[in-house]
Amino acid sequence: MGKMHEGKVALITGGSSGLGLSTAIDLAMEGAKIAIVGRRTSALDEAEKEIIAHAPDAEVLTISADVSSEEGVKKFVDETVKEYGRIDYFFNNAGIEGTQKSLLDYDMDDFREVININLLGVAYGLKAVLEVMVKQGSGSIVNSSSVGGLRGVVNQSPYVASKHAVAGMTKNMAAEYGKLGIRINAIAPGAIKTPMVAEAFKKMNPADPEGAEAAFAANNPTGRLGLPFEVAYVVSFLFSDKASYVNGQIIAIDGGQANQY
Ligand SMILES: NC(=O)c1ccc[n+]([C@@H]2O[C@H](COP(=O)([O-])OP(=O)(O)OC[C@H]3O[C@@H](n4cnc5c(N)ncnc54)[C@H](O)[C@@H]3O)[C@@H](O)[C@H]2O)c1
Repeated sequence: MGKMHEGKVALITGGSSGLGLSTAIDLAMEGAKIAIVGRRTSALDEAEKEIIAHAPDAEVLTISADVSSEEGVKKFVDETVKEYGRIDYFFNNAGIEGTQKSLLDYDMDDFREVININLLGVAYGLKAVLEVMVKQGSGSIVNSSSVGGLRGVVNQSPYVASKHAVAGMTKNMAAEYGKLGIRINAIAPGAIKTPMVAEAFKKMNPADPEGAEAAFAANNPTGRLGLPFEVAYVVSFLFSDKASYVNGQIIAIDGGQANQY
């Protein structure tokens, strides 16, 4: 049997770390050609090595760009099409958590940064990639929302606002583009063991981040945090034709935590 994603082209923002990198590895192992976008060239170089270590025949394009720049986003989309001729899958995933403070204490420059990356960055990506996919008449997009796109998270107003916005855009744009052969879904991960979440536990309890993590895990129906590959498999499924009638959904990947009282 052939590989699941043989010959498909996948563009992944935030592809140098965490969920983006893990998904890049899984898609590459299943035969996809990969373009990863991140901010730091050194991290992108390391990520490319890691992808090749898992999938020695993989084609990997690395592009350093900031998703909060509309021009920058257009450029990396153009570069991907120039290299591979098309874009089949778009993991619109780059994002930041911001600082953890209640709104009264929140520095509004920090608030704007979260919105510029998590909301506008995702919108720029959708706009530029959809132009390509509409011409193709096909494509599958997965946006990274969060359980913070389904529920409130104390001290994370801009993050939660941005992730609710991503969930809303996903539903809206799925309604607009379904007829054109394009599916748009979102994932809503809970706490998955990535560098972002390690930082979050440090912010929650600088004196004892391990304690903060253990308390969080104890509250989860599975008693643990998620692992990046457990998200990658769901993204891979959503991209594939096996999910051909799944559109406009926000899929929680959180061990059941967001649904418990
Ligand atoms: N890890 C989790 O538990 C979790 C939970 C819910 C949602 N998410 C979301 O999933 C996505 C990935 O999270 P992660 O845990 O892998 O984080 P991470 O910090 O490990 O990786 C984030 C990636 O995004 C990139 N990035 C950040 N800002 C960027 C910008 N302005 N331009 C270009 N690239 C940028 C970074 O370079 C990095 O590659 C984020 O949108 C995050 O909000 C993660």
